[in-house]
Formats: sequence, C-alpha cells, structure tokens
Amino acid sequence: MRYDRSMRRGFGVDVGGSGIKGAPVDLDTGALLAERVRSPTPQPATPGAVARVVGEVIGPYDGVVGMTLPAVVQGGVARTAANIDPSWVGTDVAGLVHQVTGRRAVVVNDADAAGVAEARYGAARDVDGLVLVLTLGTGIGSALLVDGRLVPNSELGHLQLDGHLAEHRASDAARKRDDLSWEEFAERVSRYVRHVDLLLHPRRVVLGGGVSKKSAKWLHLLDVEVEVVPAGLLNEAGIVGAALLAEG
Ligand code: BGC
Repeated sequence: MRYDRSMRRGFGVDVGGSGIKGAPVDLDTGALLAERVRSPTPQPATPGAVARVVGEVIGPYDGVVGMTLPAVVQGGVARTAANIDPSWVGTDVAGLVHQVTGRRAVVVNDADAAGVAEARYGAARDVDGLVLVLTLGTGIGSALLVDGRLVPNSELGHLQLDGHLAEHRASDAARKRDDLSWEEFAERVSRYVRHVDLLLHPRRVVLGGGVSKKSAKWLHLLDVEVEVVPAGLLNEAGIVGAALLAEG
C-alpha cells in the first residue's frame, strides 16, 4: 500500500448480489490504493453471513469503513430489500457490522455511494443543478445530486415502465435474461431515460453499474434528448463513494 501520513484515506466495501468488493481509497483523488479484494456473496445472503464476509474483505484496516447495500438505508438501518434477502429489512446494519467485525461502519445505498463518487471525482463533477446517476446491474439504482449534494435514497429503478418495474426491463440483468442485442437494450434504456427525463429534467444523466464497462458498445445507440455520459469510475464508484461517505 502506498500512502503517507498526510494522505486522506478510507476504506469502502460494496455489497452486491454476486460479490462483496472492498479496497482502501485515496480520498484526495478517488483512486484505489491497493487491488480490490473480492469475495463471493454468501447464499443465502443473510445479514450475519454477509457481515462475516465484509469482515474478511476489510482485513486489517481499523478505521471507520464505508459500506454499501442495494437497499434504502436510513441511519444505518436497511428499510427495503428488493434484490437481497428479505431478512435485511429492519436490520441495524452498522450495529451488526460492529458486532461481527469490531469496526465502525457507515452504511449507505449502493447507487448513492456511486453518485457521490461520480460527483466528487467522476462524470458528475462540476455540474450545477440536478444530475442523475443511474447504475444498471442486477437492478437499477439511482442517485440524485443537486449542485453536487446527494438527496439520498431515491429509488428510480422502481418506476413503472410498460407495466413492469423499470429495473425488470432495463437493468443489465434484464438484458442478459432476455438475451437482448445491444440495439434492443439501448431501446429499453432509452425509454427509461426519456421517462425519467420527463419527470425530473436533469442536466445530465451518468450511466454506471456493471454494464458501464461496455458502454462503447451501446451508449451511442441511445435515443434521448438529455445529455447521457458513461460513469467515470465505472464499477468502482460504489467502493470509492462508500469510503468518502464514511469520512463524514
Ligand atoms: C434497490 C436499490 C438499489 C438498486 C441497485 C434496487 O432494487 O431497491 O436500493 O440501489 O437495486 O442495486
């Protein structure tokens, strides 16, 4: 690990449906300070089992850790569980992580973490007014940023699109499930982004999540009016944003 005493650093852990990823982060630049550690998400992904893996991913780091969950999180407590085990609802996640790992944790929604990372270091940086960061993965996560400040726990992946939850139509998981071509996927994402644009009129939409690594294949196929750009931190934004939010 290459850091000196004056460096602001933190540690972020991103909990997803298939993997739990963590790394130390240089908070001045948003760069990872070591290769990220990844462990498979235990199945069933119950709170106790996940907390134990989070402890392994953290390793010897002993500062306050930032951790994401694919859920609405208020005051360290998970309030929803659309794509994770239902037993998370009502769990004091920060308390559980402390009990299991001995570390203090700041727990936030995964897309919110990605959003603050993009606002500080990435594609939502220096944009005034409303910027929307959408993460397309197992579900669709959203972060609303107003003049760079997060409005937490928006759940725009749960808007209705063609009579379905939007995340069941336009997420990366939906692309794989329905075996969509890039053209077909871009058409679904376009319909979704146009719908969100109609409701909120953001200045810019940043597209992140797992599929952002492949944006060269499909982003140019989008048919929308609002400015759409790929995420600057790709799929590492969750780790980076969690570490940043843990700094307080
Ligand atoms: C959850 C969100 C989460 C998103 C992306 C949705 O199903 O409700 O909280 O941000 O998936 O993981």
